[in-house]
Amino acid sequence: MHANRPALAPGGLPLLGHLPALLSRPLAFLDTLPAHGDLVRIRVGPREMYVASGPEAVRRVLTDRTGYDRTGPLYGKIRAFLGNGLASCPHADHPRLRRIVQPAFRPGLLPHYAGAMTAETAALLAGWRPGRAVDVTREAFRLTTAVAVRTLFSAGLEPPAAEALRAALDVLLRGIYLRVVLPAADLLPTPARRNYRRALATWRSGVAAIIADHRARGIDRGDVLALLLAARDEHGRPLAEDELADQVATLVLAGAETTSSALAWSLRLVAEHPEVERKLHAEVDAVLPDGRPAEWSDLPRLPYAARVIDEALRLYPPAWAISRTTTRPVELDGAELPAGALVVCCLYLLQRRPELFPRPQEFDPDRFADGGMPRGGYLPFGFGATKCLGDRFGLAEAVLALATVAARWRLRPAAPGPVRPVPRLVLSPGPQPMLPRARR
Ligand code: HEM
Repeated sequence: MHANRPALAPGGLPLLGHLPALLSRPLAFLDTLPAHGDLVRIRVGPREMYVASGPEAVRRVLTDRTGYDRTGPLYGKIRAFLGNGLASCPHADHPRLRRIVQPAFRPGLLPHYAGAMTAETAALLAGWRPGRAVDVTREAFRLTTAVAVRTLFSAGLEPPAAEALRAALDVLLRGIYLRVVLPAADLLPTPARRNYRRALATWRSGVAAIIADHRARGIDRGDVLALLLAARDEHGRPLAEDELADQVATLVLAGAETTSSALAWSLRLVAEHPEVERKLHAEVDAVLPDGRPAEWSDLPRLPYAARVIDEALRLYPPAWAISRTTTRPVELDGAELPAGALVVCCLYLLQRRPELFPRPQEFDPDRFADGGMPRGGYLPFGFGATKCLGDRFGLAEAVLALATVAARWRLRPAAPGPVRPVPRLVLSPGPQPMLPRARR
């Protein structure tokens, strides 16, 4: 079976392997891998995993549904906390759940959801003051969780209840990653653990109460939950109660931190590239001359803002590493992998390949100007049957927020120095204090 093994990345330490490098300078470490091949072995503690960064290999892993599955320890832990949601369920459960959840994301509903995006962006920016530093990573996360709660549960939720759910979610999303990489985190009776458990209880009871209320009143408020309640599988069966709660939790998890990272990276990249900032300001000044928040109907006139988001998603794909486990021995990129092997599709590396993207490290939104992206080389939303269901939702949200910020504020880093990316389940830029300067 080991006849054809991919190269092992150099520099691993005894016992820990490449874990220290992955934790302390993750992107710099990943950048060293392509020199050793499109498929490279790394060691994370006692486990070996394969990092795929070539377009063929990545597409193969994401589309071969019998050879690879969303199983293994990582997905096991996510499911232990979040249940069997569409974004983390094994392939066997996937077609049925996808069929049920998909209608909530059909294009015709987006203008309706965009109303919540516009309103929440305006509410967030109302709290900004000239010269008072804001952590834009945190602000972006506040925005996307608020939008998620509002589009899922609609206006039927009183503001304090919506805020309690959003705050619980904030604690949960941060805590889940810690528990995935460090299972011991749940064994020690620390205040952080108490906090996490309280948030989990608030979230579960809050969601259960909302579902019960929706059911009891039978009113269609035009939100995602109403659509999920009405949905039926191919046998005409609705989702069971626990399945429904799992999908709700998953949608928020899959949508909130990914979109907020895309927005936070974009705000940073724009601040660091004066020419991009100039073009973006020119566009938003023409579309939003009075500084009003951008709306759904403005999107066709915001192509440059969209390109900024597309390019930020290329350089810093929030879903930087999509993992799968082999279900049987497979051949990949000329190598033979055993059953049970953990394969990570590294979109971060794929989208920086020089033969696919000239000057790959440069932030250049105009590379998207003629729709000129190589097929299969740009996959921030994944590929195949599990491709992101919320891609248009996330893009609309990020573009509307970016345009609205740019129409009113010019942002500058509050402290000099490079960003320190934090690869959690999502590739996040980490805390980024920035100073807003009023543009009008
Ligand atoms: C810029 C923002 C986003 C990025 C970069 C992103 C990226 C991705 C990627 C790469 C996958 C594929 C995962 C896999 O194959 O295992 C995925 C799946 C998914 N995403 Fe997104 N996503 C974003 C926003 C959203 C939003 C806003 C929502 C919902 C409101 C959402 C819902 C989902 C769901 C439900 C899945 C699972 C699809 C399936 O397995 O059938 N995503 N996303």
